[in-house]
Amino acid sequence: MTVQEDHHGADVAARVERRWAAASAAIIVVLALLAAFTGIHQATMPQARVETTDPTRLHLSGEFVESNLGTAAEPDGTVTVRAIGQQYSFTPSCILVPAQTPVVLRATSADVVHGILIQGTNVNTMLVPGYISEQFMRFEKTGDYLMPCQEFCSFGHEGMWGKVKVIDRAEFKSRAKNGGRLSCVGE
Ligand code: CUA
Repeated sequence: MTVQEDHHGADVAARVERRWAAASAAIIVVLALLAAFTGIHQATMPQARVETTDPTRLHLSGEFVESNLGTAAEPDGTVTVRAIGQQYSFTPSCILVPAQTPVVLRATSADVVHGILIQGTNVNTMLVPGYISEQFMRFEKTGDYLMPCQEFCSFGHEGMWGKVKVIDRAEFKSRAKNGGRLSCVGE
């Protein structure tokens, strides 16, 4: 092996190295631009529909007064559930819904940020004070589902649990026929 060949090999290695370095730098620049674009775009183009509420007046009037919390059977056959998260519980702590029925969950927080997660389903939303979170859900099978708070909300967070009880459609209908708001608290 001559000295010249050695130099040639070193040149090739240096060139390849530079190419890889350039490719890596380009990937980083593209990712940074992508992150900046989506971040700025999201901030300048907010969601088409944002519902707000005054967290300090939830208990006084409006949709989230205590007498309106729980499950309501709508005239069109769907079901609306209204709930509040607060340190460290959900109201109602047991949500009653019928199986095989479209359910709209509407919830908000009375104090800090909480989260609702229904185990075994894709229902998972944050509860932010001042905003109403809406989530569509449908349960095919009857049974009990655990509903932990999934957002750290201070020292009582791990004790903040609720439950969703899914019952038979016919049973729900007979319980709902008197109107009012239903829940399974104490059952
Ligand atoms: Cu509420 Cu964690």
